[in-house]
Amino acid sequence: MGNIILTGDRPTGKLHLGHYVGSLRNRVRMQNEGNYDKMFVFLADAQALTDNFDNPEKVRDNIKEVALDYLAVGLDPEKCTIFIQSMIPELTELTFYYMNLVTIARLHRNPTVKSEIEQRGFEESIPAGFFTYPVSQTADITGFKANLVPVGEDQMPMLEQAREIVRKFNSIYGETLVEPEIVLPEDERCYRLVGIDGNAKMSKSLGNCIYLSDSEEEIKKKVFSMYTDPNHIKVDDPGKVEGNVVFTYLDIFCREDSFEKYLPEYKNLDELKEHYRRGGLGDMKIKKFLNDVLQEELKPIRERREKFAQDMDYVYDMLKKGTEEARKVAAETLHEVRAAMKINYFE
Ligand code: TRP
Repeated sequence: MGNIILTGDRPTGKLHLGHYVGSLRNRVRMQNEGNYDKMFVFLADAQALTDNFDNPEKVRDNIKEVALDYLAVGLDPEKCTIFIQSMIPELTELTFYYMNLVTIARLHRNPTVKSEIEQRGFEESIPAGFFTYPVSQTADITGFKANLVPVGEDQMPMLEQAREIVRKFNSIYGETLVEPEIVLPEDERCYRLVGIDGNAKMSKSLGNCIYLSDSEEEIKKKVFSMYTDPNHIKVDDPGKVEGNVVFTYLDIFCREDSFEKYLPEYKNLDELKEHYRRGGLGDMKIKKFLNDVLQEELKPIRERREKFAQDMDYVYDMLKKGTEEARKVAAETLHEVRAAMKINYFE
């Protein structure tokens, strides 16, 4: 059997550069390489509601934003099926059956859930829906028999938990479900993008993001406010490259022709770093260079986004068609699951 690719995002905010290098870019590459039978990308609104159930407008509004971000980065509805999670009730039914295959103790050990509980200060008052979202995520993946899941590195524990549930299901009810594998970016430096303030993670709640939808001006402002080396005060001072956000981003975004285009007095990044370390290279210059590099990367994305935003009817129509198509696939899997569990009484 060929590959089935599946991945998704919680619609709780616009997508940013961290999403882009950590996962979106990888998905678009896989989509365009075409080495798969089916590819599904979805808006995990039911999952988003597990910790935003009291704010349904936020989730609803962000369906639109994330759908636009998807189209903007180059996900193509001709090549992949884009859908809305909550519109596929088959996934909820699968979740209910999988609940039997996981213990409270195991869910407590899930490192992602653990740190989210801490971050949100839930302690014992955690809503059951939130606590069990890894089980629902297993339904998302297995409902489509996906074997490849391109997501950010933070999703590793979710995939591990999904694999366990699959193994347990198959050993009790017979070989039915497919064990999924995570697909991470080739370049480890892309696993987790630092925020513009130097914080270990770019995250909406920390307010340190560059969004895919940011205007040229906003990007420029953010690049020029980036954390560099606090001890590099005068241009002549020697500077540190490690932990310097501008260089971290240049490592990731610089292309072979970037120097020729925007900073021809240097051959490559090594030469630029060397000069910065030695002293005599000012922050303004490296920031201006990074700004040029990022603007080049983000301009076509922003322009595509603006174009699609003009035609929201098209976007919702695309989501509706994708959801209908995806629902058929999930219904087939559910049918097999029910048969395996011997609850297909009327057949
Ligand atoms: N947990 C993912 C996120 O935080 C979203 C998600 C839900 C997902 N179900 C999934 C990703 C299944 C991959 C596969 O963005």
